[in-house]
Amino acid sequence: MQELRDKYISAIAEAEDEAALESVRLAAVGKKGEVSLKMRELGKMTPEERQTVGPALNALKEEVNSAIAARKTALADAALEERLRAEWLDVTLPARRRGQGTLHPVSQVTEEVTAIFADMGFAVAEGPRVDTDWYNFDALNIPSHHPARAEMDTFYMHRAEGDNRPPHVLRTHTSPVQVRTMEKTGAPVRIICPGGVYRADYDQTHTPMFHQVEGLVVDKDISMAHLKWVLEEFVKAFFNVEHAELRFRASHFPFTEPSAEVDLRCSWDKGQLKVGEGDDWMEILGSGMVHPKVLAAGGIDPEAYQGFAFGMGIDRIAMLKYGIPDLRAFFDSDLRWLRHYGFTALDQPTLHGGLAR
Ligand code: PHE
Repeated sequence: MQELRDKYISAIAEAEDEAALESVRLAAVGKKGEVSLKMRELGKMTPEERQTVGPALNALKEEVNSAIAARKTALADAALEERLRAEWLDVTLPARRRGQGTLHPVSQVTEEVTAIFADMGFAVAEGPRVDTDWYNFDALNIPSHHPARAEMDTFYMHRAEGDNRPPHVLRTHTSPVQVRTMEKTGAPVRIICPGGVYRADYDQTHTPMFHQVEGLVVDKDISMAHLKWVLEEFVKAFFNVEHAELRFRASHFPFTEPSAEVDLRCSWDKGQLKVGEGDDWMEILGSGMVHPKVLAAGGIDPEAYQGFAFGMGIDRIAMLKYGIPDLRAFFDSDLRWLRHYGFTALDQPTLHGGLAR
């Protein structure tokens, strides 16, 4: 029995593949295998012989079987190792041919506006897009039942039952940043605030998200004349013209008094806008003297300080300057549109280097 054992255990260890192993298995413990045949002989033995030989044969069969199983696993592992070594795949992609993206017109125009106002000493301020209705409305002299709230098509944030936090909205304009900045820095203030705003509206010139830039100056002895000069300087630089003419049309905003909508003298020549000449007027922004209540909401004494403010649509002036017809396309992420209307990312707009291209 010892001989049998040694013979098969070494045959198993020497089997080079599954097929060889299988023939060793058949020769040892297969139906007609040597160990199986020996087991059949148990019947011819005396009960005493059977008692010693039987368990020994069973043990031998078990040992052979588990040696085969172990060898099988070892062979499979070795085969896998060999395959992993032999098969090799490069999963890195080659660099894309067009490696450089373009700057979206909104980003470009935001940079242009920032460069122009920075030159006049304005800092850039920012605020959250989700704001409390206090900053978006109340602090701007729009109390809860004011009709202006309804006019704005406001998106209100969902509030779970029992949530006692103040109501939040997607800001409908950049004006809440006026109050946030006044609170933070006190007077004097000279900022612009560019950023996204939201209103439930959708057609060729309205999208539920769009961009505004707010301007705010607070100091002693500030008047509408300062507002007018700043806006004229801006328009000339932005549209790159020597001369620009603005028309201030009396209007109404709850947060400014007096208020004015500002129109720009222009002409349209075959769909092409010309600024500073012609017989047309185009509305470009809303503005006015900051309402005393708004200064007070920002913690500034309205007896000692005055301010002017304005708000302008970034997407709208981008459309005018670059002749882009449909606002909705701004936010479609169509690569062809982005390549056509986009700007090289490496050209930073500056006043001395030129604002675009
Ligand atoms: N917040 C106003 C709007 O979104 C624009 C504006 C800003 C008007 C500042 C006057 C002063 O329509």
